[in-house]
Amino acid sequence: MIAHPPVKVALVGCGGVARRYRKAYGALPGVRVDLTVDINEDEARQAGKELDAARHSTRFEDALAPEVAAVVITTPNDLHAQQAIASLDAGKHVLLQKPMAPTVDECDAILAAQRRSGRTLGIYMNLLDHPLFHDLRRMVQEGYLGKIALFSARLAHRGGLQWGGVDRNWRASRARTGGGSFIQLAVHYQHLMRLLLGSDVTRVQAFSRNVACPHMEGDDITLAQYELSNGALGDIQTAWCVQEEHVSLLGTRGSIHYRENRRIEYVGEGGPFQGEALTLRGDGTLEVTEECISPEWDDAKNPYNQHRRFFEALLAGRPPDVTGAEGREDVRLVQACYRVAQGGKVQS
Ligand SMILES: NC(=O)c1ccc[n+]([C@@H]2O[C@H](COP(=O)([O-])OP(=O)(O)OC[C@H]3O[C@@H](n4cnc5c(N)ncnc54)[C@H](O)[C@@H]3O)[C@@H](O)[C@H]2O)c1
Repeated sequence: MIAHPPVKVALVGCGGVARRYRKAYGALPGVRVDLTVDINEDEARQAGKELDAARHSTRFEDALAPEVAAVVITTPNDLHAQQAIASLDAGKHVLLQKPMAPTVDECDAILAAQRRSGRTLGIYMNLLDHPLFHDLRRMVQEGYLGKIALFSARLAHRGGLQWGGVDRNWRASRARTGGGSFIQLAVHYQHLMRLLLGSDVTRVQAFSRNVACPHMEGDDITLAQYELSNGALGDIQTAWCVQEEHVSLLGTRGSIHYRENRRIEYVGEGGPFQGEALTLRGDGTLEVTEECISPEWDDAKNPYNQHRRFFEALLAGRPPDVTGAEGREDVRLVQACYRVAQGGKVQS
């Protein structure tokens, strides 16, 4: 077997959520961090120190240096298109945070750059780190839940109540995010819904409001409903003014609910099904492993870790788990929901 030299990576945006996973880059097989970039020099320096990077910088342009082969971008949404396009045009592979960009036009511009460059573009979707969701996908595919009639998810936290005004937090700006809570949060479960059900969305309707965060421009609560091509229906609610998280799959042979990233409930006809996180017995009892708690994002040993998986795909020459086209579809659906949420007023 021919050993590849390590892929030299630049991490762009090392603070914020990147703090939760950047340590993985010290342990990913076949990868070496060459450069850390952040406009906050302390973040760039600290990340570089942790990962033993050759250099750190406050200038994005340094990520375009010839020695860098791949760029991992974790900056605010409105920077995704310009940084991803510049990286692809400089011949780099790109792993880009969700959401791909605030608008579909920007997603299309990124996809055009990817086609020009022939490089690999992946979208980071941390939900896919979780073995549970891979088990659920198998359960659906193998018919353990029967025909899925309904997918339902809520991803709600109270972060928006604390975030400051437009100047102090980019999430408060509709232009910088592409919306509000919904674009930030719904992409996760929209993606999961399409993946678990193996179906496309054919119609949406939605309501979107700002009920408790007047200092933020966008929605702090949105309720969207989806019709899928296989006949199932879905609903997704997001908020950053109230707190709760769940995902449910309701099928003709059984239903499964995953609450607060730790509790699983099952009602149905039973297995036997043996997954990595779930064991469903013939008598309808469900056993769960400790993996039912979401894995740490910096666990490089987790075979589903999406950073690990991106570089494995790159080295093996196969497409990443979440392609640019998939990232675009998630943004397209978000923007479709926002559009319909503006209509539908009850006439007097
Ligand atoms: N996967 C998830 O669950 C998840 C969770 C939170 C955020 N995100 C996404 O990650 C991205 C960043 O969000 P965040 O919460 O980390 O934001 P943040 O504002 O907390 O952190 C962004 C980091 O980028 C740096 N930065 C800003 N402009 C830069 C530039 N021009 N060049 C280099 N660095 C720059 C900032 O200094 C900061 O360290 C967003 O797209 C967001 O949607 C994903």
